[in-house]
Amino acid sequence: NASTVILGTGAYAPARVLTNDELSRTVDTSDEWIRTRTGIRERRIAAPGEACSDMAVQAAQAALADAKVAPADIDLLIVATVTPDLPMPSAACVVQHKLGLRTDVACFDLNAACSGFLYSLDVGCAMLASGRYRHALVIGVERLSSVLDWSDRTTCVLFGDGAGAAVLGRSDQAGLGLLGTKLGSLGENTELLYMTHGSHGKGDAPEDVETNGHFIRMKGKEVFKLAVRVMDEAARDILEQQHVTADQIALVIPHQANMRIIEAISQYLELPMERFFVNVDRYGNTSAASIPIALDEARRSGRIKPGDLTLLVAFGAGLTYASALIRW
Ligand code: ACO
Repeated sequence: NASTVILGTGAYAPARVLTNDELSRTVDTSDEWIRTRTGIRERRIAAPGEACSDMAVQAAQAALADAKVAPADIDLLIVATVTPDLPMPSAACVVQHKLGLRTDVACFDLNAACSGFLYSLDVGCAMLASGRYRHALVIGVERLSSVLDWSDRTTCVLFGDGAGAAVLGRSDQAGLGLLGTKLGSLGENTELLYMTHGSHGKGDAPEDVETNGHFIRMKGKEVFKLAVRVMDEAARDILEQQHVTADQIALVIPHQANMRIIEAISQYLELPMERFFVNVDRYGNTSAASIPIALDEARRSGRIKPGDLTLLVAFGAGLTYASALIRW
């Protein structure tokens, strides 16, 4: 009765810090507006020439070192991202080569937007549980700065770049690691948050590159309302599925999109904010990288102890949602 466990985590954020004050010099916004509406103070921006795959490699190397697993022992690589270096080939293939992984490794990207890391965790764990893979590397990475319209104040203030990674393996001990997940999608809401980068024709795309369709477009208020609803439901569903009550959760690691969304979930679940990990103030919304960066920071800062139950919960474009329960 073995378990699939997280053996190590790692994260990477580009050095360049972009503050709210700096942004307010280029678009009509202010530090006060951004802080009070979102909780964001600053975000990281990739250097020119610093690719999505480069950030992924940094996070992966940190996770491999933490897990004490050699690159040669990885036989499955999943990269969750909506901003791969290229639409084709996958970011996973680029990362495989840069990391020097073996050539008999299964490599693919997974797009579930901000829920991508939790989707990938579930897929990775299921593939490991099949017994056909021994160690999986799961990465969430985004270079959102390249798909932001820097003249649109309703989106450019919200997002940032970064990467987070986890190494998964098997443990003989039962009842550890990923206990369960709840994944889903409300596909009727695709028009609330989208970009057409890489789309193949004008016909069915809402916009195209000539009209800056490769930029992220979002109906913020609608996304906000749906996000609160689906995150609350996804959290409750996984607790019910695993026969766990909210007060048994030592730490919730929510997708870091907006402080007000996190505060709403805290109220709905009747769990104090001290039990929520928050770093949206320092990174903004890094989409698929948000949860693995937070997870790595939570582990390294001692906020996760052996035996603890951690609840991970996310929502993203799609509109996708995901929750996961982990026993350490
Ligand atoms: N600076 C100053 N004013 C602004 C800014 C800005 N950066 N952005 C918008 N405003 C203005 C608007 O134009 C509007 O002005 P008006 O009243 O004159 O029309 C006013 O501020 C209020 O705008 P709202 O959109 O109503 O503000 P709201 O309180 O809803 O906050 C926000 C907007 C922060 C975007 C919020 O709706 C939100 O966080 N939504 C969720 C977004 C999200 O999480 N997206 C990520 C999805 S995950 C993924 O997959 C990528």
